[in-house]
Amino acid sequence: METISFARGIPAPECIPVEELADCAREAIERDGATVLSYGPVGGYQPLREWIAERHGVEPDRVLVTNGSLQGIAFLADRFAGARVLVESPTYDRPLKLLAAGGVDVTPVAMDDEGLELDALAQALAAGPKPAFLYTIPTFQNPSGRTLSGERRQGLVELAREHDLLVLEDDPYGLVRFEGAAPPTLFELDGGERVVYSSSFSKTIAPGLRVGYFILPQALGRELEALAVSTYITPVLIGQATVFEFLRRGRFDPNLERVRALLRVRRDAMVEALERELPSATWSRPEGGYFIWLELPRETAEAPGVSFVKGTDFGGTPNTARLAFSYVSPDEIHEGVHRLAAIVDQPVTVTT
Ligand SMILES: Cc1ncc(COP(=O)(O)O)c(C=O)c1O
Repeated sequence: METISFARGIPAPECIPVEELADCAREAIERDGATVLSYGPVGGYQPLREWIAERHGVEPDRVLVTNGSLQGIAFLADRFAGARVLVESPTYDRPLKLLAAGGVDVTPVAMDDEGLELDALAQALAAGPKPAFLYTIPTFQNPSGRTLSGERRQGLVELAREHDLLVLEDDPYGLVRFEGAAPPTLFELDGGERVVYSSSFSKTIAPGLRVGYFILPQALGRELEALAVSTYITPVLIGQATVFEFLRRGRFDPNLERVRALLRVRRDAMVEALERELPSATWSRPEGGYFIWLELPRETAEAPGVSFVKGTDFGGTPNTARLAFSYVSPDEIHEGVHRLAAIVDQPVTVTT
């Protein structure tokens, strides 16, 4: 029996526009090879920086394009090593590991179905030393799939203003929306420099290109550039130039539509299967992204023939699990959830 993976938070192979990207990579080298195959500015490939800057209404020198957005989170963990940082509970496990490696004092802040709980955030701000920043994934969160409501976004920005709190809004999934209206980003609501915004072309074009970016206040931008120079001198310009060629050809929006449609059927398949197979569990119902957060009546266990990530890896309770619907086919999703139901129906084993 082949294992069905709900563990892999990566796109299904058909989401990746391989042929078009091959053509874009060739064109990028032919047109601008001497630049993109050499060392260059640490902030990234200039035409791409300008495209991103225009999209977010900032000057290009506030854009730092990194080798995937996780690299920029690593720079922030390094920059704020030893400080106190607030995170959502649960949250994406890789930044948790990076923060831990930097000796950061991490304070988890509770979430509910509408995202981060503002009362809990206010309490965390009142207790303990001033945090260096709050790390939040407000839209289609990894791991929970939850989205912060519009009202709470407003409240969060106001709290950040009152407490002079820096916010890192990590938003790789925001555009991967299947339905419903998108709330404004925290970055848009703040309108200033208190919110650092990060996103990535990993979910909208292809993760293997390794192109992510940050919009930063100028001073912090300079500090992170210094860390970037001493880490890799120049980011991978060929990946960035390939992304830029894809954008220049007008392929971004049509491709995004295609990706949304491919993922939507997977989300639908998973919700249908959960309704049929796991009536005793509850789960999030994301309008986009990659993930569903499952809450079982009791502690999760290994299920034969299906893999998933235990919620505890993200700081969740032992009865939770992250199910990624992004990678597998709708048929595999139905079968995988059927296999998952086996662990819920099992008799409880009492350990002493
Ligand atoms: C919330 C979140 N942030 C950042 C990343 C890293 O993305 P990138 O491929 O840009 O490094 C991921 C990847 O899954 C993610 O889920």
